[in-house]
Amino acid sequence: MAVIADKCPEIKVTLVDINIQRIEAWNCPDFEKLPIYEPKLKYLVKKNRNKNLFFTCDLKNSISEADIIFISVNTPTKSKGLGAGYASDLKWVESSARSIAKYAKNNTIVVEKSTVPVRTAELIKKILLVNDFDKQNQTESKSFAVLSSPEFLAEGSAIEDLENPDRVLIGGEDDDALEKLSLIYQRWIPKNKIFITSLWSSELSKLTANAFLAQRISSINAISSLCEPTGADVREVAKAIGADSRIGNKFLNAGPGFGGSCFQKDLLNLVYLCKYYGLKEVANYWEQVILLNEWQKTRISKLIVDTFFGTVTSKKIVILGFAFKSNTDDTRYSPAISIVNDLMENGANLIIHDSQVSENQINAALNEEKSIKNSFEGTWQFSKDLKNSFKNAHAIIILTAWDEYLNIDWKGLSKVMKRPAWLFDTRGIIDEDSFLNIPLNIWKIGKGVVREIK
Ligand code: UGA
Repeated sequence: MAVIADKCPEIKVTLVDINIQRIEAWNCPDFEKLPIYEPKLKYLVKKNRNKNLFFTCDLKNSISEADIIFISVNTPTKSKGLGAGYASDLKWVESSARSIAKYAKNNTIVVEKSTVPVRTAELIKKILLVNDFDKQNQTESKSFAVLSSPEFLAEGSAIEDLENPDRVLIGGEDDDALEKLSLIYQRWIPKNKIFITSLWSSELSKLTANAFLAQRISSINAISSLCEPTGADVREVAKAIGADSRIGNKFLNAGPGFGGSCFQKDLLNLVYLCKYYGLKEVANYWEQVILLNEWQKTRISKLIVDTFFGTVTSKKIVILGFAFKSNTDDTRYSPAISIVNDLMENGANLIIHDSQVSENQINAALNEEKSIKNSFEGTWQFSKDLKNSFKNAHAIIILTAWDEYLNIDWKGLSKVMKRPAWLFDTRGIIDEDSFLNIPLNIWKIGKGVVREIK
């Protein structure tokens, strides 16, 4: 919405949320305190806030004034009830639709922006339609057109992705509404990148795009595990296969497993959908992408423990990075959560550093998991000070590819570590050839032990 406001100064964009603290944070005079970290976002909010970009809790007036409403609420995996563990919880979509039905005036275009299971637009339509039946009791008439326009931005590069998307998808049946939304995007996106589809194709394309992206990561992670014992290097393999234009070179970085709020949720949703339609084999196929991802995280924890001859009890280990990827402070489903938990279960004492994630966030993420698992033997401490974290540490594990970790003074810091000191690079960002006189053993994803001090 910040990008729409920036590209279309004559359009008034209002962000509405029922969470007062969140809206207060978006309206905070100190732009360093905006609720999420995303490169360039601060700049756009600063430039447009209270000009044509507004943040408010006033649901009623915002809805009744709007010509177009984007439903952009979260749709987490259901934790209980029918479809628990797989299906998306649509309660926020439903309550948004109810509010729109209640407060909207005249003709309103409702755009489904949240990632939703296929045919959710039907649910929204039904809720809005019920309102149409009540129309005779109202003085003014109202009508709705429902469109689907899923979001393809990735965290960490959100603004860039929105300013220059590969494509924009708009699904729907109402030509007038389709044209209106398309014209907004056409303000900065070439028309040939705006695809008009049916509602259901649009909804299914979103789930499928994420499933295919996640599948590439599980595929390359699977190959990383084969590279390590065979002497191949997963980066060389990725480069070789990526050069085939039919495969392409993006999303082939082996790592500790995918995280983030989208891939797992959307895959589970797809699995649920396939099961619902009786497509057991198809459901199993996509579920395997998630299972492989879980396995990748566990295998990394296990190989670290194995390196220390089966025990990390009371060993000091420095964790570099807790966010699910670099350039974001988001920790949802971060592979760091399960790897950190596994190491603590094995009694390790961890020092956790991240360039953007706060101690409170780490605490919340770990506590959430802790209630599911048993109590841990190990401990963790937060550190903003990289320099002092390494003292007496037995190992360092890179879990997020923050740029800052590329500039670490390994020579100086490794001297204060316990010998034999280990560096586990689960993101494959370290150039082991530059470690010539540095007393560190190095394990690298998709290559295995690349340096061992005898
Ligand atoms: C993902 C998709 O990339 C977006 O297109 C989509 O719009 C978004 O989900 C969504 O549905 O909202 P996001 O989860 O923000 O975006 O971030 P990604 O860049 O896709 O990374 C996801 C995870 O995969 C991260 O943990 C990342 O480290 C990992 N990854 C990514 C790899 O391990 N290797 C790669 O080569 C790429």
